This record gives sequence, structure tokens and C-alpha cells, in this order.
Amino acid sequence: MYNIVYVYFFMNYRIRQCLKTYWLQIFSYIQDSRGAEREAWQRRVECPENVGAHCVRPIAGDQRSPLQAPQMTKSWSHIEELIKMILVVGASGMLGYDLMNTLEGDIRGVDLPEIDITSLESVRKVLLTLKPQIIINSAAYTDVDGCETEKETAMSVNGEGVAFLAMTAKEINAKLVHISSDYIFNGKKGSPYIEDDLPAPLNVYGESKLAGEMNAAIAPEYLIIRTQWLYGINGKNFVETMLSLAKEKKELSVVDDQIGSPTWTKDLSIAIKVLIDKNCTGIYHVTNSGFCSWNKFAKEIFRQQGVEITVTNMTTEELKRPAKRPLYSALDCSKLYKATGFKPETWQEALSKYLALRKGN
Ligand SMILES: NC(=O)c1ccc[n+]([C@@H]2O[C@H](COP(=O)([O-])OP(=O)(O)OC[C@H]3O[C@@H](n4cnc5c(N)ncnc54)[C@H](OP(=O)(O)O)[C@@H]3O)[C@@H](O)[C@H]2O)c1
Repeated sequence: MYNIVYVYFFMNYRIRQCLKTYWLQIFSYIQDSRGAEREAWQRRVECPENVGAHCVRPIAGDQRSPLQAPQMTKSWSHIEELIKMILVVGASGMLGYDLMNTLEGDIRGVDLPEIDITSLESVRKVLLTLKPQIIINSAAYTDVDGCETEKETAMSVNGEGVAFLAMTAKEINAKLVHISSDYIFNGKKGSPYIEDDLPAPLNVYGESKLAGEMNAAIAPEYLIIRTQWLYGINGKNFVETMLSLAKEKKELSVVDDQIGSPTWTKDLSIAIKVLIDKNCTGIYHVTNSGFCSWNKFAKEIFRQQGVEITVTNMTTEELKRPAKRPLYSALDCSKLYKATGFKPETWQEALSKYLALRKGN
């Protein structure tokens, strides 16, 4: 009896392996054919010289810039439906980096200087050349305090820039996935914000992000993802700041009256992939599960890293930053779970994976 069961499972495994190899061969044949057709197309296309040098990750094996890789020809249009081209704008940023390494298929990335979203001309040049089916906008002016003095830049990048992307998305009938922030809320609700709660930003950054949300809705199809307290391998972030301060100090004061959910950009990228795969549209909140204060977050970073340091409490008022911050801006992510069945891991679990990855670097 044991042998029969063993043979059954073994055969089952072998058959699945064969089928997988067969499908992989078909898929690579399609990719090869597509590559050849693109090559031919490329010779007829005038490639802009001042753009295209900055591709973060073209499709596997493709060493050309994102703008040099043209659209599939008509004969492969049915395949195009299956393998949608996704363009990440802001690909060199913290979230952009993890998106480029998490999304699968034909993924391209652009950032400054090859695209400047504050220029309609630049946006059209890139989008009309590439014609992606999905545009993910993770480009932003993210210096929250800097926004208070650079209001024009903030509104231009975070507000107007999104309008340019959305207008051009309309021209090429692409879906716009736009990343927004908890800072569109004033933090006075006292419980986690749901997607339908009324925005009321307290600072210029929040105002500019809210303008961006409104502008994203110009696109024929849009998905707005609000998130918060991001950290990731490819950017300046709170975890790195705490660990570098701990090298010089024996005691640190950290704000304990702002509550939110620390969110790892890798986990956010996975959730964005899930939302795209499920064809979700509208607004979604996405953060790691659970919430804490910056102070508790700092203590957990040091605990997990085995760093001996005293962390004392301070208030937002005492910190005296130029931009006002919402005090309680945790986001309710249950809509994400209901729509996709996906529940991000806890912020403590995410932190431990990030710290392990960081050590391995
Ligand atoms: N970081 C957070 O805690 C947080 C929290 C909530 C929401 N978000 C949102 O999440 C998204 C990703 O944030 P992030 O922390 O990954 O940002 P990031 O690391 O600052 O990346 C943003 C990228 O956009 C680029 N960029 C700036 N201006 C541009 C322009 N005019 N045209 C094209 N690209 C431009 C930046 O280039 P340069 O570096 O050369 O300027 C950078 O590579 C943003 O929408 C942000 O508002 C962030």
C-alpha cells in the first residue's frame, strides 16, 4: 500500500514537472519572437538620446534602455493581454527599488532625469514611446519638512505631476497606480482611517498628496494606494537613522505621541502586486499589520538588533519640526483583505526580515 501511494505521488510530481518544462518552453519561444519583432521595430524608431540611460531593470536579458524597447506588434497582441508592460515611475526611489524587484513580467523603470513628471512634454515623450498598460507612480517629493518652504515644488511634483501622468495614461488607455499617504488625514479620528474617511491634511506635503489623489482620477482606470512610515533597503529611513544614531549615543529621545504602522517597502510592493493581479481599482490602504509610536518602533529596532541604548519619551510639540504631523494616522487595511484575501505581516515580523536582509548586504 505504501509503495502504491509513493508511486502515485512520484508520478504525479514527474507529470507536473514535464508540464511545467513544456509551458516554460512555449513561454520562452513567445519571448524570443517578441524580442526579434521588437528588434526590427527598433531600427525604424528614432530613440530620444537624452532619455533611456537609466533603466533600473529591463525584462530579463534585455540590456536596452526602457525607451528603446518598443511595443509588441499586432500579431502578438493576444499575448500582450497576458503579459502587460508595467512602468514604474520613480524606480530609483525606496519603494521603486522594491517594486522593480517584486513585480513579475515585463517591468520597466524610469526616474529623474529621463522622466520629469513636472513636465508634460517629458511625461508624454516617455509614455507615448513605451505605451505601458500599467503605470505605477512612486515618484514624489517626500521631504515633509522641506515641503513647507518648497510649496511650489511639492505641488508641482506631488500634485501636477500626477495630473500629467493621468492625462497621458488616458491617451494610451493605461491604468494608473498611484501611491499616496496617511498625511492626507489630520489624525484626529482616534481610530484607524478607512478609505472613505474625509481627508483634511495638516501640512503642505499632505495637501500636495491629496491634490495628487484627485488628479490620479483623471486616468481611465486608477488605483490609489495610501501607505505610511515606509522603510526599505534603498532609501534613507527611520530604521537606518536610529541605528546610525545608536553608534554615537548612549541615550535617545524619540517621539511617543504619534501612532502609525511602520511599513516595509518590500511588503508594500507585494501588496501592490496582489492588487494589480486582482484588477482592483479605487482607493486602498496598505501597511504592515499592527501599529505603534515612533518611540516603540525605535525600541523594537534596538531590541531586535541587540543594541544597548536608553530610549526616552518626547512629544511632537517638543520636537518642533516645521511641518505639523497627524498624531494618530493608522490606516485600516481591511478593504485590502476583503478584496484580495491578502493580509500583510505584522510590523515586527517585517522589521526582523528587513534587519536580516540588511545584515546580509
Ligand atoms: N517614505 C514614506 O515614509 C512614505 C509614507 C507614505 C507615503 N509615501 C509615498 O510613497 C511613494 C514612494 O516613497 P519613497 O519613500 O519610496 O520615495 P523616494 O525614495 O523619495 O523616491 C521618490 C523617487 O521619485 C523621484 N522623483 C522626485 N521628483 C521627481 C520628478 N519630478 N520626476 C520623476 N521622478 C521624481 C526621486 O528622485 P530623486 O531622489 O532624484 O529626487 C526618487 O527617486 C511616494 O509617493 C511617497 O509620497 C512615502
